[in-house]
Amino acid sequence: MARLLVTGAAGFIGANFVHYWLARYPDDRLVVLDLLTYAGNRASLAAAEGDPRFRFVQGDINDEALVGQLLREERLDTIVNFAAESHVDRSIHGPDPFVQTNIVGTHSLLKAAKAVWLDASFGGRPHRFHHVSTDEVYGSLASADPAFTESTPYAPNSPYSASKAAADHLVRAYHHTYGLQVTTSNCSNNYGPYQFPEKLIPLVLLNILHGKALPIYGDGENIRDWLYVEDHCQGIERVLNKGRAGEVYNIGGNNEWTNIEIVRLICRLMDERFAADPGLRRRFPESPAGEGKGAAGLITFVTDRPGHDRRYAINASKISAELGYQPQETFESGIARTVDWYLANEPWWRAVMDGSYRQWLETQYGG
Ligand code: NAD
Ligand code: TYD
Repeated sequence: MARLLVTGAAGFIGANFVHYWLARYPDDRLVVLDLLTYAGNRASLAAAEGDPRFRFVQGDINDEALVGQLLREERLDTIVNFAAESHVDRSIHGPDPFVQTNIVGTHSLLKAAKAVWLDASFGGRPHRFHHVSTDEVYGSLASADPAFTESTPYAPNSPYSASKAAADHLVRAYHHTYGLQVTTSNCSNNYGPYQFPEKLIPLVLLNILHGKALPIYGDGENIRDWLYVEDHCQGIERVLNKGRAGEVYNIGGNNEWTNIEIVRLICRLMDERFAADPGLRRRFPESPAGEGKGAAGLITFVTDRPGHDRRYAINASKISAELGYQPQETFESGIARTVDWYLANEPWWRAVMDGSYRQWLETQYGG
């Protein structure tokens, strides 16, 4: 039986992790700590609210006293740190919160964990600090380069990836210097339910529904290695259960796609959904899906992101060989599940769009 502090779990991956964990570990306790920034949505945790194993606390990972109090009063033995500023474009326009949350906030969590688990009366008890990181710390690959392994040198290019890289180093240092039982996972791009619609896949889905341009940065040939979010949760589960303290594990899907290929695939799926279900036309009258040139007519090439990394690719053979990790979802099945989830969960994304998402869109694209 484990007692977990899950930070940032009102966000995309953390919320999926909470639902994944509660469904599989009936005896575990989950305390969520989330600041509810623009990216945090309590609605993403609605299915867990009321469950006696679950508690939500609104707060900042920078609040060391609060984290220490939660670790003590809830007798928590595990931290899974999802809390972060996570969007590259935002980090380009305003890096400060990335430094504050991703670096200073992670360090604050490490200090609280060390104080409670190593220095105080808890000292010597089994514990685990799992840090959720990204493949973007390794920098950008050329088309013929081998995929990132755990020993690829760090070469972050954006303020986002630089802040994640700094946090990864602090996590490593707390193991080597103080003996904190840490693990880190570096994962490729995720997609699936509850993803905030500033990221490529949900942005494209919702813009198709509203007949808005689908902005493709640069030539659209940038490559990402896409993983269905539940497969990321499965990878973290394996690291928590069997991973060795002090180790780093890459998690990926062996699933490289160019951005333009993905956008065309989503357009095709949306055209098919609209052609098969006349109710969708009534719900989304502005959408060109299933008619004329179809959704692909919305594709618009726009100015490239500054410093845009060309390619990411993960070599996940370490976690596969050591911990038996294998992704369960194919890209075709995962993307179809994702399209259907957004079509079936209009109230969730409407609530997101009525607030921060709409304001953000206006600042980016003038509405
Ligand atoms: P997200 O932006 O959807 O969610 C982040 C959550 O953290 C939000 O709920 C937000 O309210 C919360 N938060 C932000 N600052 C906080 C603070 N100071 N204190 C407490 N909570 C705070 O992010 P995501 O896509 O779910 O990513 C989760 C983690 O996974 C991040 O660490 C990210 O770097 C990493 N990651 C993401 C991807 C991806 O494709 N999305 C891939 C690899 C790794
Ligand atoms: P994103 O979802 O922001 O993830 P990341 O930058 O962390 O990989 O972007 C995925 C890819 O899609 C990336 O190459 C940038 C590109 N992109 C667009 O072309 N248009 C968009 O509107 C967005 C948000 C992203």
